This record gives sequence, structure tokens and C-alpha cells, in this order.
Amino acid sequence: VLCWFYVFPGYRLPRDKDIVAEVLRQGDVWVKNQTGIDLYRDLLTKCCDPQRMFAVTKENSPIGKVLWYDGEIYHSHTVNSETYPLFIKENPLPLPLKKCAVVGNGGILRNSKCGKDIDKADFIMRCNLPPLSGEYVEDVGTKTHLVTANPSIIEKRFQNLMWSRKTFVNSMKVYGSSYVYMPAFSMAPGTDPSLRAYFSLTDASSNLTMLFANPNFLLSVSKFWKARGIHARRLSTGLFLVSLALGLCDEVTTYGFWPFSVDLDEQPISHHYYDNILPYKWFHAMPEEFVQLWHLHKSGVLRMKVGHCS
Ligand code: CDP
Repeated sequence: VLCWFYVFPGYRLPRDKDIVAEVLRQGDVWVKNQTGIDLYRDLLTKCCDPQRMFAVTKENSPIGKVLWYDGEIYHSHTVNSETYPLFIKENPLPLPLKKCAVVGNGGILRNSKCGKDIDKADFIMRCNLPPLSGEYVEDVGTKTHLVTANPSIIEKRFQNLMWSRKTFVNSMKVYGSSYVYMPAFSMAPGTDPSLRAYFSLTDASSNLTMLFANPNFLLSVSKFWKARGIHARRLSTGLFLVSLALGLCDEVTTYGFWPFSVDLDEQPISHHYYDNILPYKWFHAMPEEFVQLWHLHKSGVLRMKVGHCS
């Protein structure tokens, strides 16, 4: 694994070709390692307490509590009588979660036919309000239990919810009655759009429940991975969810985590299964994250599905 890091001196990106070769070498072999699963759950519980801390709740954030933003320097929100009522009482997830599927948005999912596999999981987590209908169903499935929504999506796709909220509310119906997990207290410009998203859903009596990501949890998860060699400005959404899943689920399978430009047949693929918009360079370190997750796959702590299902 280590040699991947040093393909380019002073530059730690692994080469796509080497990763493909390594993944093909491993093939379908995967052996569950219960000791490893328990160990990671303990490590994550100790550092980050996902059960109690993953969302902002009335229990962990009473009035007067200062929430320090994890993506800003010296910016905070003090919980007050306007924001407190918007928080859920306590962690609402039916713990322990059994089989969890964490679905990233990688282009590797396209033509994967993983939809049925994903839908079989007991708890399905998705990132950034991804498209789920029509041509995508066969590859990514239809069910969702938790979906993240970045405030930047609210800005770009829904005019920051400053105008009509109908398009937003209607487009959210595809996620059924899942939890919408928003980092409302991570970056200063994200707070208002997140609160508007909350009101848009509750005013429309939507079946969805808004959960605000707890910045303390996000910060502790970032530190956890930083100590394991991931140095990015910000962890990818997918890695936050995998960390949550490792802390809460009996078994974790990931899909769509493949931040490389070719598939296992070395054919070019798009960055997302629905478009080819690349992330800001240097903001995330997805290939480094992949190497960490692949290590967990090889040691049986979680299972990564890359390529075709069935
Ligand atoms: O918001 P962010 O840029 O982190 O994510 P995204 O592009 O919406 O994709 C969701 C998640 O899938 C990412 O956070 C990554 O963890 C994962 N992903 C991947 O592993 N490979 C890709 N080609 C694209 C996304």
C-alpha cells in the first residue's frame, strides 16, 4: 500500500493504474473481521461518540451552548430560543443499525447494476441529494434512510430558497421519509440556507426529518482521520458518512467510492454517476481517503463494492 504514495516524489496521489491493478488482484475476496469491526466501533466511539453527537440535538445542545463552526476559524452560534426548537430531541436512529449501505456518488456506479444490492440494506445513506429516479434506479437503487445536503446545493439548485420552495420540496420526495443531514453550523454562509431548508420541509409537512450535523462531531471525525494520514482542507462527505456508519452499524458496505478517472477495465469514467463536474482541486483528498477505506476493506472492517454487482 505504501508504495502508492510515492509514485510521484513529494506528491502523494496514487496512480489510477496501480489502484486498478491492486483492486483486481484482490478480486471478490472479502472476509468479515468481527474483531476489526468492534475495534473500529470502539475507536470511533471514543473519539467522536457518534451515537450521541452526530446530530445537533436538544440533549447535546441546550440553550446557551456555543456551537463552534468546524469549517471556519472563530465563528460560532450560541443556541437560543429561536434555534433550539428546531433541533431533534435526541439521536432518532434505531440503534444498532444492522446492514448499512453508504453510497458515494462515483461514476463507477454507472452501469454497475448495484441498485438491488443497495436496496437490500437495512439502512441506506447517500450523499448530496443525488438523483435516484429513471435511468439511475438500476445502478443506485431507490431507497434512502439518510441523505446529506450541502448548503451549496441549496444555493446552486434551488436559488438559495429565496423564491419558491415548491421545486425543492417536490424534488425531495424521492428520498421518502428519510433524514436529511445538513452541516448547518460548519461554514457561516451555510447556516441561513440550512434553516430555510428546514422551514421549507416542515412548512410543507414533508415526510423528511431535518438533522443538523453537529460541528463537534465533524471536527472530531476530521481529527480521527488526520491522525491516520488524511490531510485535506475538508474530508469528503462520503468519509464522514462511512465514519458514522462504522460507529453505528453492525456491517458496512460502500458503493460508488472510486475517485479515479478509469474503471476496472481501464475505460474512462465520469466523476459522478450523473455528471462529470470535478471537485475543487486540493479541497478534498479522495484518493488518499480511498486508500484508507481500501485498507479497511482488505482487513474485513467494511466492504467496498467497486465495479459490477450481481
Ligand atoms: O461533497 P463531495 O464533493 O464530498 O461529494 P460528492 O462529489 O457529491 O460525492 C459524494 C461522496 O462520494 C464523496 O464525498 C466521496 O466520498 C465519494 N466519491 C468517490 O469516492 N469517488 C468519486 N468519483 C465521487 C465521489
